[in-house]
Amino acid sequence: MRTEIQSAAEPYLIQQDYAAYTKEQHGIWAELVERVYPELEKHAAWEYLEGFEIIGLQRDCLPHLGSISVRLEPRTGWNSTPVSGFLPAPAFFEMLAARRFPTTTWLRNRGSLDYTPEPDIFHDVFGHVPMHAHKVFAEFLEHYGRVCAAISNEAVLEKLGRLFWYTVEFGVIRQGGEVKVYGSGLISSHGECRNVISGRCAIRDFSLDEVLQTSVKVDELHKLLFAVDSFEQIYDAMREAERRAIRGSL
Ligand SMILES: [Fe+2]
Repeated sequence: MRTEIQSAAEPYLIQQDYAAYTKEQHGIWAELVERVYPELEKHAAWEYLEGFEIIGLQRDCLPHLGSISVRLEPRTGWNSTPVSGFLPAPAFFEMLAARRFPTTTWLRNRGSLDYTPEPDIFHDVFGHVPMHAHKVFAEFLEHYGRVCAAISNEAVLEKLGRLFWYTVEFGVIRQGGEVKVYGSGLISSHGECRNVISGRCAIRDFSLDEVLQTSVKVDELHKLLFAVDSFEQIYDAMREAERRAIRGSL
């Protein structure tokens, strides 16, 4: 169940000034969606596509975070909470543990449709939030935040960061004999998504051991990703990682 935000995240909480978005910005959102959505209809996990409908995302205008949360909270207890930008790890984990997804409100400009070094509202909402409507994924993500919030060992957090990276950010799942994308970094990046669906990225069966041994590269398209068979699998992997962290064997 949700808990209240403690002190670490509080300085980063803001209001979304929805009226301040310009017609040009709504147009950029629409263009970003139009570039990837036709492919996602064929290649995204059904849970993502279902979540997209549940939270009421619009294809032609920027999302109003309050309206999304009104639709999402009764379903899984998650909401989409506006924040000022990139959060330090303790604040980020604290918010996940409270089922409040830290969501940036700025939008990339037309000159950087393909890539932004820091997440924007397209990555955070279009990429992440639909999956928060799925009950198992929602449980997993809260659990991830709760476990990480209690850990201060940097090496352990780095390992757990790999689990986050290869699931929440760049996860794929096998459905109906095909590889489908659900990670936000794949969903919100035209290039990363095409890289996977065109077969240029190797896909191995998800293995916690292998994920924990695979470092994260942020400066090139992925050459290897890991496919689960169900979202229960990532929740189970998280609980196993937690047990190892407690034993000191992660
Ligand atoms: Fe992300």
